[in-house]
Amino acid sequence: MTDQNKLQKLKTVLKKYGQSHILAFWDRLDPARRGWLLAQINQLDFAQLDRWREEFVLKASPFKLPGKFVPAPFYAQQPGDAGQREKYDQARQLGDKLISQGKVAAFVVAGGQGTRLGFDGPKGNFPISPVKNKTLFQIFAEGISAAREKYHTSCPWYIMTSPLNYQQTLDIFSANNYYGLDKKDVFIFQQGTLPNFSLDGKILLADIDTIATSPDGHGGSLRALYNSGAMADMQKRGIEFVSYWQVDNSLINIFDPLFIGLHAFDGAEMSSKGLSKTGPFEKLGNFCLADGKVTVIEYSDLPDELAEKRNPDGSLAFELGSIAIHIISVSFIERLNKHGFVLPLHRAVKKISHIDDKGQRIESKEPNGIKLESFVFDALPLAGKSIILQTVRSEEFAPAKNATGVDSAQTARQMMVDRSAVWLESAGVKVPRKADGSPDCVIEISPGFALTREDVAKKRDKIPAIKPGDKVYLG
Ligand code: UD1
Repeated sequence: MTDQNKLQKLKTVLKKYGQSHILAFWDRLDPARRGWLLAQINQLDFAQLDRWREEFVLKASPFKLPGKFVPAPFYAQQPGDAGQREKYDQARQLGDKLISQGKVAAFVVAGGQGTRLGFDGPKGNFPISPVKNKTLFQIFAEGISAAREKYHTSCPWYIMTSPLNYQQTLDIFSANNYYGLDKKDVFIFQQGTLPNFSLDGKILLADIDTIATSPDGHGGSLRALYNSGAMADMQKRGIEFVSYWQVDNSLINIFDPLFIGLHAFDGAEMSSKGLSKTGPFEKLGNFCLADGKVTVIEYSDLPDELAEKRNPDGSLAFELGSIAIHIISVSFIERLNKHGFVLPLHRAVKKISHIDDKGQRIESKEPNGIKLESFVFDALPLAGKSIILQTVRSEEFAPAKNATGVDSAQTARQMMVDRSAVWLESAGVKVPRKADGSPDCVIEISPGFALTREDVAKKRDKIPAIKPGDKVYLG
């Protein structure tokens, strides 16, 4: 087919789907820019996009609650009886063994920017630790380094970025000498994107030769792991499980033998950690069981009467909230990708900078377009088996999302200090406290010093006496 014929065919397809304007500036483009535009267009499946446009762009399809669902069963943080205690012990041993055998990799989703934190650049580069002001990336890298030493294995780290921050992330790792990790054990890759739409369903242009796009959500990680070659790299290394977390969680326990062990013990494909919610309306997704499958129902979609429903002992019926911590089997990622899978899309009405039909730049002050994203927890019902382990907020969940207030850098920093204080006290160290019970000092325990409270106890003799107002760094 000649180039002219190909162009004609493309015009017919675009016309069929009401997207002819994408080629509106064709005559103004030189061959290189035409090639660039065509490469982007060739990535798009217009029939699929048109279905999404109908379903998610032109209307906000209401979330369909499953016909029948109940709170999902979960493993309590502490075993309930002797039988369960034995299972937890065995699972812990299995988890330790799997980590030592090099079968577990770290996987952080870091495609988001620090915008809500009021920070320019990849969120992972946000300085957060209470004494040394280490960045999130550095804290995770030190945790992985400490796990390498503890388990005598390479503990590779996969980092999903987006086109918004891929190059910046590479530069940050390079400038910091990969935080002392071996570069060949750090795999930084990009997630996919989806086109942005106008409110009336037209694909927006960012420039005369560029389609406006945005990252396809953390749900895109399951496809990106496959498309980027990360999964093949895992298989070459004999990795069977990935430990998934979000870049904003400074307290993450990346290699948790109990969680990994329970997942493997029960033959699960994708598992989750959950927290008891602070109240019926805490903004966490709810773990439910629908059609026998673990499913997360977002807080905004759970009817109030169910959110407020209580068990006879007074606890919330839908007690457990999702904190975006998962173990995912590599074989599950492979199965999904080899057999084709589609996660539902979620729409967000946003301010999107674009050009109009005359090529003029539009910077709207009001939300003027639709971005589409998929969420990783929507893959849970696709798993043959999925377990949930309850955990304790103060031990492993301190997200830094906002500049101030709830889930801010300030609350995350305070939670880091609080956890350090509790770990020290559990090792018999006296921590000065204020009248309200909060630590009257600033403490930072580096992952190299201790990954767990048990590690702190082993280093009891290296910990100095702490006076009110002290700043203590244990590294
Ligand atoms: C999310 C979860 C919520 C969970 C909470 C825990 C959703 C819809 N909600 O909220 O259930 O309780 O975190 O902290 O996800 N990311 C990418 N690529 C993308 C989009 C996001 O890598 O395209 C990464 C971000 O870098 C971040 C994480 O995913 O690490 C979460 O994204 P964010 O948009 O901050 O989700 P939240 O609304 O905070």
